[in-house]
Amino acid sequence: MNNVSYSDVVQNQMKNQMHNLFILGSPRKNGNSATMAKAVADGLLQTKGNSVENIYLNDMNIRPCQDCGGCLSTGNCVFDDDMASLYTKTDEADRLFFVSPCYFYAMSAQIKVYIDRFQARWARKYLLNQVPTAKHKRTGHLLSCAATDGAELFTGAILSIKCLCDTLDISYEEPLFFRKVESRNSIRNLPEHIASCELYGSKIASRS
Ligand SMILES: Cc1cc2nc3c(=O)[nH]c(=O)nc-3n(C[C@H](O)[C@H](O)[C@H](O)COP(=O)(O)O)c2cc1C
Repeated sequence: MNNVSYSDVVQNQMKNQMHNLFILGSPRKNGNSATMAKAVADGLLQTKGNSVENIYLNDMNIRPCQDCGGCLSTGNCVFDDDMASLYTKTDEADRLFFVSPCYFYAMSAQIKVYIDRFQARWARKYLLNQVPTAKHKRTGHLLSCAATDGAELFTGAILSIKCLCDTLDISYEEPLFFRKVESRNSIRNLPEHIASCELYGSKIASRS
């Protein structure tokens, strides 16, 4: 397994904290969706007891699912790549933030590859009756953005992330979307968008 150069742990304030895992799907490390994630994290961190970790999928070695059927009887993927650490991190996070730009009315390939590898978890739950037993409610949050203004821009991502949350037995929560942001710095230059992200994060943290 690689060391954690593809991720960074932003803050870690106290014991019994809520761990917030951001799964970032854009190849643009400081682009719009990453800026959303950073501002949401800032909002979360206003409440003590929160830690934040960013995973940059574009830096990782994750093979796409081959539909080989290997996981159907074992619940484990046959590949041994960077997804191994991500299964553990995903299982252990209290809140998961799925962060992706809208690509062709869906999500980026980077995050889709991560999602598809949870076919192994689907097999555990629906074929092998191995239902995960979390000690408390875990939540999933979709953050996305797009260049245009279409009504259905995020519908594909919503359905996919809802399906993933169901597979992982986590509660799909209110998402956050921005339209009409294209160049890398668009959201960074929109203080009202940054404020919305911080508010979104602080509300989530104050709920628990
Ligand atoms: C391959 C590709 C596909 C895209 N598809 C769409 C699309 O279907 N609709 C849209 O409004 N924007 C689309 N965009 C624009 C991005 O969603 C937009 O620039 C977004 O702000 C990028 O976020 P990022 O900086 O986090 O990568 C696409 C961009 C790329 C590179």
